[in-house]
Amino acid sequence: MRFLITGGVGFIGATLANYLARQGHTVRVLDNLSSAGDKSRLDPAIHFTRGDVEDKPKVWRLLNKVDCVYHLAARVSVPESVLYPREYNSTNVSGTVAIMEAMRDAGITRVVLASSGAVYGEQQVEKVHEKLLPHPASPYAASKLAAESYVRTIGQLWNIETVSLRIFNAYGPGQAVPPTHPPVIPQFMRQILEGGSLVIHSGGEQIRDFIYVDDVVEALYAAATAEGINRQVINIGTGVGTNIVDLIKVIEQVAGRQAQTIIIPSVDGGVSSLVADTGRAEALLGFKPQIALPEGLALLKERDSLFAPPPPQTGFEDRGWGVFSISANLSDSIRGNPCYEKRS
Ligand SMILES: NC(=O)c1ccc[n+]([C@@H]2O[C@H](COP(=O)([O-])OP(=O)(O)OC[C@H]3O[C@@H](n4cnc5c(N)ncnc54)[C@H](O)[C@@H]3O)[C@@H](O)[C@H]2O)c1
Repeated sequence: MRFLITGGVGFIGATLANYLARQGHTVRVLDNLSSAGDKSRLDPAIHFTRGDVEDKPKVWRLLNKVDCVYHLAARVSVPESVLYPREYNSTNVSGTVAIMEAMRDAGITRVVLASSGAVYGEQQVEKVHEKLLPHPASPYAASKLAAESYVRTIGQLWNIETVSLRIFNAYGPGQAVPPTHPPVIPQFMRQILEGGSLVIHSGGEQIRDFIYVDDVVEALYAAATAEGINRQVINIGTGVGTNIVDLIKVIEQVAGRQAQTIIIPSVDGGVSSLVADTGRAEALLGFKPQIALPEGLALLKERDSLFAPPPPQTGFEDRGWGVFSISANLSDSIRGNPCYEKRS
């Protein structure tokens, strides 16, 4: 098959692109490189184009003879979206409309949208299912819900098959760890390995559904060809909730080191619980996640160069692996808040 992946240099997009290329598919990637991604992470067989999803002529060219579009390009930080809602609306909503319009013009018949479990917001159930009324709690979540709505509506008007996957907290190798609002798993892993301190919000009681990126890619792959999923929204999580305190215990086991923690009880850590009901994914996509959290964290540590041990020291010079990292990472981890998505 021939695929176009928008945002295909990002964490999930590059993992998906490389997987599809390995399966022998033709893969084109469009990415404006606005995030930390690097195109060198893409398999050489992948055709990469630097550009914006709103660049119509470029998008039209890339859509030529494509069987399915994966629309992943987005701005993905919850706290950043609180500060810059207009930018989030522009990329995540207008950008999605632009892709749908171009697909209509190019006669493309299928799109898979990377939506988010964040659309649910605070709910009074143990596991969130797709029939619940979403209560987005951030501009990021609102933009994802709006994108779902545009994809479904434009798809319906122009006979384009659409499916929106509400991905929960993905983690795995290749996830960027920016200095502000880093995602919680790689941030905590790094802190523990380096002997820094972890700052935990809201007593560490927030519960999240952490899913390894290879499982997310399996679900995305299934969504490109599954029958009977037109206009659906489907949760992509593991169905297993883990609170932040327990997450740290598992990372400690994988890292072989004890964490030093500072617990801040009163700071807002986002919605209290967000765990996927995975019934629809199993029924419609035949999707069952394969990688449990301890295994996924071990794979992360093994495969992500971020966690490679420092090179052996040749003299007595201070390489900044010890004392410096404790103070620097202490302030980073204050922002390592599990309500964030990419940055969570
Ligand atoms: N990572 C998660 O836990 C998670 C959870 C739920 C949903 N999602 C969704 O999955 C998708 C991918 O997330 P990710 O974690 O890989 O994020 P990412 O930031 O690593 O990737 C997003 C990519 O989109 C690109 N991009 C942004 N704006 C663009 C534009 N206007 N034109 C072209 N490219 C643009 C960025 O350069 C980046 O490479 C996003 O849509 C996100 O909302 C991610």
